Amino acid sequence: MDPKGQKVKLNDGHFIPVLGFGTYAPPEVAKRDALEFTPFAIDVGFRHIDCAHAYQNEEQIGQAIRSKIADGTVKREDIFCTSKLWCTSFRPELVQPALEKSLKSLQLDYVDLYIMHYPLALKPGEELYPKDENGKLIADSVDLCRTWEALEKCKDAGLAKSIGVSNFNHKQLEKILNKPGLKYKPVCNQVECHPYLNQRKLLDFCKSHDIVLVAYSALGSQRVKGWVNPNHPVLLEDPVLSAIAQKHKKTAALVALRYQIQRGVVVLAKGNNKKWIKENMQVFDFELTPEDMKAIDGLDSNIRYCDFQLGIGHPEFPFSEEY
Ligand SMILES: NC(=O)c1ccc[n+]([C@@H]2O[C@H](COP(=O)([O-])OP(=O)(O)OC[C@H]3O[C@@H](n4cnc5c(N)ncnc54)[C@H](OP(=O)(O)O)[C@@H]3O)[C@@H](O)[C@H]2O)c1
Repeated sequence: MDPKGQKVKLNDGHFIPVLGFGTYAPPEVAKRDALEFTPFAIDVGFRHIDCAHAYQNEEQIGQAIRSKIADGTVKREDIFCTSKLWCTSFRPELVQPALEKSLKSLQLDYVDLYIMHYPLALKPGEELYPKDENGKLIADSVDLCRTWEALEKCKDAGLAKSIGVSNFNHKQLEKILNKPGLKYKPVCNQVECHPYLNQRKLLDFCKSHDIVLVAYSALGSQRVKGWVNPNHPVLLEDPVLSAIAQKHKKTAALVALRYQIQRGVVVLAKGNNKKWIKENMQVFDFELTPEDMKAIDGLDSNIRYCDFQLGIGHPEFPFSEEY
């Protein structure tokens, strides 16, 4: 941790801000949202921006970052920018070109963090979700360790300061960690994590290997139609979170974010309006008690909002493992 408690050290010596700004939005609004909300997030204090090729808005985020550098709000080195390697570029020879494409869109010389988006190699091509005639995703037979070696080369080339993974289960992480000749360990595993899916076992595993867990959908996800089961309960309406929020004169959203930071998890927050985005910076203004933390731990109920049903059947589908 840095003295202000707003950054943690990664296993390669770089620092990551513990609160990040999420930039995923459904494709029809992704570009517009990125242009409108990213500069605002930087204005109110967000310094960690979570992007991905698959979100199809890196160009707009690049414009937003540039504009905030141009008006003197931040310098490049103040911003921690993540991008993600999409699954159709897992063949080793496709990795660096994919990163260079993201860098061009983001108008950056390097990203602070480049991560494999899912452990699911897919058939290369322009389509993000290549499907067969039965609507099943077409897997590509790439060993994840070969993709990892290509990421290591991107770090050596200075195109990514740090490298990591996302949506990996502990066995897939072990596969990378046990790879003969491993040069760099993943610095992080970005996974869904919130009070209803607190990832205790995966978090303990990651901590034991000095890998930071980065929580996405920490506020219960955007409940995007077709991707999230609408019958799952709404996290931010949970009575336990609401009672704790009331006690601290904060909101359930802030309690859900603060919970992650206090258990050593880096947390992402999406906001679809400026009020939420500004509010979420208040996560540094209060502290949950050990009793609050215990009560929130008690909400764990294995509810996965982003279960990526489309990926079921892929030989590396990550969510069939317990953790
Ligand atoms: N690696 C991966 O596979 C993966 C997958 C999913 C997400 N992510 C990343 O994680 C980021 C965050 O996850 P997410 O997009 O699922 O959303 P989230 O952070 O769980 O947020 C969900 C929703 O919470 C609401 N909200 C935000 N702040 C609030 C507040 N202060 N009070 C009340 N409601 C509030 C917003 O809803 P409204 O719509 O009502 O404003 C927001 O859309 C993404 O944007 C993306 O960058 C990564």
